[in-house]
Amino acid sequence: MVITPNIEVIREQFPILKREVNGKPLIYLDNGASSQKPLSVIKALDDYYSLDNANIHRGVHYLSQVATEAYEKARKKVQGFVNAQFDHEIIFTKGTTDSINLIAATFPLKSGDEVLISAMEHHSNIVPWQIACEKSGAQLRVMPINHKGELILDEALDMINERTQILAITHVSNSLGTINPIEKLIAKAREMACKTLIDGAQAVPHMKVDVQALDCDFYVFSSHKMFGPTGVGILYGKESELNALPPYQGGGDMIKTVTFEKTTYNELPHKFEAGTPHIAGGIGLGAAVDFMTETGFQFIAEQEKKLLSYATEQLRSIDGLRIIGQAEHKASVISFLVDGTHPYDLGMILDKLGIAIRTGHHCTQPLMDFFNIPGTCRASFALYNSLEEVDLLVEGIQKAAMMLR
Ligand code: ALA
Repeated sequence: MVITPNIEVIREQFPILKREVNGKPLIYLDNGASSQKPLSVIKALDDYYSLDNANIHRGVHYLSQVATEAYEKARKKVQGFVNAQFDHEIIFTKGTTDSINLIAATFPLKSGDEVLISAMEHHSNIVPWQIACEKSGAQLRVMPINHKGELILDEALDMINERTQILAITHVSNSLGTINPIEKLIAKAREMACKTLIDGAQAVPHMKVDVQALDCDFYVFSSHKMFGPTGVGILYGKESELNALPPYQGGGDMIKTVTFEKTTYNELPHKFEAGTPHIAGGIGLGAAVDFMTETGFQFIAEQEKKLLSYATEQLRSIDGLRIIGQAEHKASVISFLVDGTHPYDLGMILDKLGIAIRTGHHCTQPLMDFFNIPGTCRASFALYNSLEEVDLLVEGIQKAAMMLR
């Protein structure tokens, strides 16, 4: 029997949602930074350390075999989750940032080449490419956006030319919530023989991603934003593209043979997984994939759509509140400023009311410069947030604005 999830049942699975902060029930609206964890993920971590802890891919002993099996099972779950063709196309890293750095550090670039990013990238999809361009002499180019926080698509598509070696763009903006038309960009990139890397950190928690349907070369995301443990990231890469790249880091597990004269490298995925990984984290990620799959993307999409439209409408009714990022297609992220208040002060007062939001530049300083602002307040929702929590956020902002003005 399929049980349709409802918000009460979902919230029951997140023990942290029952705690108080500053004497008030926690209202957690900083899911873009990191989501909370369901009991199944917490239990997977606990079980691993209580029952199965051992190093993987190395031991003939029982526990090592059990741990290896559980870790590799998690890889298969992630493969299914994003519909990769092979499980060895899933590389476990430390996080989205680590995944992007891996590609930027190994991707072949030379003087005269171009790397294309967008004006709404997170620093982690800017700086690694700046470093790569500095080393190689390639040029970093930036696709423009409009004041709604949307990519100017015609201009963006025109910037993909025969010199563009790689297009690296976020699927969903962490600061604005904009969902980018990556299908169109990937199609144009393919025509121009340009490789594509999609930063899916803010997309995967909200929507079903199918890497084969997208036909991107690389897709990267983080476990901790999708209800899994911190310290684990995912790099999906097409087999042929990953095989074409040199290793990123040297060490154990990534080699086939080592002599002082010459080392031969292991096959995918191990070639890119030097050293002992975050084994418990990988297994916990597998539990997070199960949680999301069992909950279902239909429920997630409906719940977040409700939250986004209700919160947008309610926030707009606040005197002097301005929403930054008004794209037509948005995930459940709302950045805003309130006249006469500083985001930091507003965030501090909300915290006193038990409401957690993020304030600041959200690791997107060039985007803040584009809007000519130092930062924003950001409420980012997850499937366990309720409309009552939105009401309390609105009440809190009104209270804070009265105190600060
Ligand atoms: N990238 C994370 C955020 O947007 C940390 O908050």
